[in-house]
Amino acid sequence: MKKNTTLGEFIINKQIEFQGSSGELSRLLNAIRLAAKVVNYEVNKAGLVNILGAAGETNIQGEQQQKLDVYANEKFKQTLINREIVCGIASEEEDEFIVIEGGNKANDNKYILLMDPLDGSSNIDVNVSVGTIFSVYERITPKGQPVTIEDFLQPGNKQVAAGYIVYGTSTMLVYTTGKGVNGFTLNPAIGTYYLSHPKMQHPKMGKIYSINEANYVHFPQGVKDYLKFIQKEVEDGKNYTSRYIGSLVSDFHRNMIKGGIYIYPTSSKNPKGKLRLLYECNPIAFLAEQSGGKATDGYQRILDIKPTELHQRVPFFCGSTEMVDKAMEFMQKHPEDSNY
Ligand code: AHG
Ligand code: MN
Ligand code: MN
Repeated sequence: MKKNTTLGEFIINKQIEFQGSSGELSRLLNAIRLAAKVVNYEVNKAGLVNILGAAGETNIQGEQQQKLDVYANEKFKQTLINREIVCGIASEEEDEFIVIEGGNKANDNKYILLMDPLDGSSNIDVNVSVGTIFSVYERITPKGQPVTIEDFLQPGNKQVAAGYIVYGTSTMLVYTTGKGVNGFTLNPAIGTYYLSHPKMQHPKMGKIYSINEANYVHFPQGVKDYLKFIQKEVEDGKNYTSRYIGSLVSDFHRNMIKGGIYIYPTSSKNPKGKLRLLYECNPIAFLAEQSGGKATDGYQRILDIKPTELHQRVPFFCGSTEMVDKAMEFMQKHPEDSNY
């Protein structure tokens, strides 16, 4: 596909390739595209909102200023619910999943959506990149009936689509429907996304490692050993560099382009890890694999984990295949740490 293809054109062209496609997934992706533009606009003026809202933190309509993660959650929800595109939503910002009934008629939509509406929220106040992550599954309960928890607790290998928006120096929407990964950059002047990164490929090996090293003393032995291995390599003249933004989306995006590994392990502080299987790890793992990378919990493939609860956390090792394999070698020497 040509580089100046817009996201709208791309979605239509892809739908034509699927014979007998109902267009539901296309409509869903279009809704995400729209909500992402609205959130992008708000993220971009985050610094200004504080100035304008300083007196009592209310906006011009007298409404309370909302934290951006709550705002992003509301915008994505509204856009998807108003358009009656999905039959259920689960979000990092909601305790329970949301059933979308479909007004007077039964909701015959077949997809559910899970999301981390604002990833890296601690970076908002300091003008550093944040993101939105989404994950789409086909429901397993029959159409027309309300969705149940079973629809949401499917393993990541059943994802139909997944992606993220990174609100960085430019805003990009990157997604997969299981046929590779494509990245689109927003031209903010006209509000259109263009295909800027076709068929993204995760380098098999990289130089970057991304981990919150301040937690070193709390890490499992396998992770400590892997970090010592990297130090040894550096001593031997190999080139490594440490980069950690604290927004999974931004850290992953950079590593997918340049090559690297991202690790958020278990620790005595976070005994099950910190990242959420359903809203963060599964969608990012799907993108990692679709671009030729790898994602595991240190022992097994993330996408094969059968979730047991909505807000489940898992340790996360993701990125260039050779680097993830190496880290797993060290983890596997400590099988006791696989029972987190
Ligand atoms: P969220 O803002 O959605 O809660 O996610 C933050 C996550 C992830 O994006 C990031 O990589 C990690 O938390 C950072 O955690 P530490 O501050 O513990 O390193
Ligand atoms: Mn997050
Ligand atoms: Mn979040």
